[in-house]
Amino acid sequence: MSAFTGVTVDREALIANYATLAERVAPAGVIAVVKADGYGHGAVEAARAFVDAGAEWLGVADVDEALALRRAGIDVRILAWLHAPDEDFVRAASEGITPAVSSVEQLAAAAGAEVPAVHLVLDTGLSRNGAVESEWPELFAAAAALPRTRVEGVMSHLANASREDDLAQDAALDRALSALAAHGIVPEVVHLAASAASIAVPETRRDLARIGLSLYGLSPFADRTSAELGLRPAMTVTASVLRTIRVPAGHGVSYGYTHRTERETTLAIIGLGYADGFDRGFGNRVSVSIGGRRFPVVGRVAMNAMHIDVGDAEVAAGDEVVLWGDPATGVPSVEEWAAAIGTINYEVVARLGPLLARRTT
Ligand SMILES: Cc1ncc(COP(=O)(O)O)c(C=O)c1O
Repeated sequence: MSAFTGVTVDREALIANYATLAERVAPAGVIAVVKADGYGHGAVEAARAFVDAGAEWLGVADVDEALALRRAGIDVRILAWLHAPDEDFVRAASEGITPAVSSVEQLAAAAGAEVPAVHLVLDTGLSRNGAVESEWPELFAAAAALPRTRVEGVMSHLANASREDDLAQDAALDRALSALAAHGIVPEVVHLAASAASIAVPETRRDLARIGLSLYGLSPFADRTSAELGLRPAMTVTASVLRTIRVPAGHGVSYGYTHRTERETTLAIIGLGYADGFDRGFGNRVSVSIGGRRFPVVGRVAMNAMHIDVGDAEVAAGDEVVLWGDPATGVPSVEEWAAAIGTINYEVVARLGPLLARRTT
């Protein structure tokens, strides 16, 4: 039988990670972030696992992502915080999705759609989608004047530049809350920290921590592993060997012959490539695990294929290749793949595309 090609998500790991992190940030609650298709793990399945683990809130970037969760029957609170200029929030209102709004215009649109509650997104230093400090007076006055839409929450997002920078953003958020209070608005929930600060800067935990990456068992820190944080990577990427070919020394492999065999060897070909979200730059820089042994990926990653040099090992069509998974089991970590192309684990998992099969165990 052929091995599975695609992403396998360990539901128990997601549930265990949720429990670990919920306990760590308590008494703050958790907004489980499932944007970007649940960081490549599959948003619906990830959301179901987190809800089963006790999540009362899910977080996504936009209303479309939130609607996809609703269509799958997920009925907990969903917060969506990044909106197109013409987003009218009508769908959000009808599906009970809570918009986090960044401007007077978005606030007015949400109120016009009769959304019962919004969160305000305030920029305290990331310079992304929140209202910047000079815009706060107008936004807060507009929020105070709304007859039917209440400000349930206030959020900001950290730049993770340093502990001092995080605390400066935390202080800016306090200034915002004082200014809001002067307008008679005291939000029920304030949230600032994501994975990194939730773990490393407890002062920033506030009422809710919006946690993404760590819930999937991955570390947001370059110098601390998942295991050191008590987390289990939930994703394993596997592929079935499509075929093997025996080639002589000096044989050019894949487009452009960026690799030539040093001696007679066997090449195993798998059906994953950049169309599935695997960076072309992985070629000649990463290794995979087959039957518990490591072998290098050689030559350029193609649109739908990668080559593995398995030497003289007994590898046959249908055998399982593990690209990455939980390194505690001896397979490569996603961090090894990320480091190979100079990026972070976030990017490698989030780029895994919709063409890739996904299953939950
Ligand atoms: C606004 C916001 N909150 C929370 C998160 C979750 O971040 P992390 O995956 O680092 O926990 C993100 C992700 O980028 C985000 O954009």
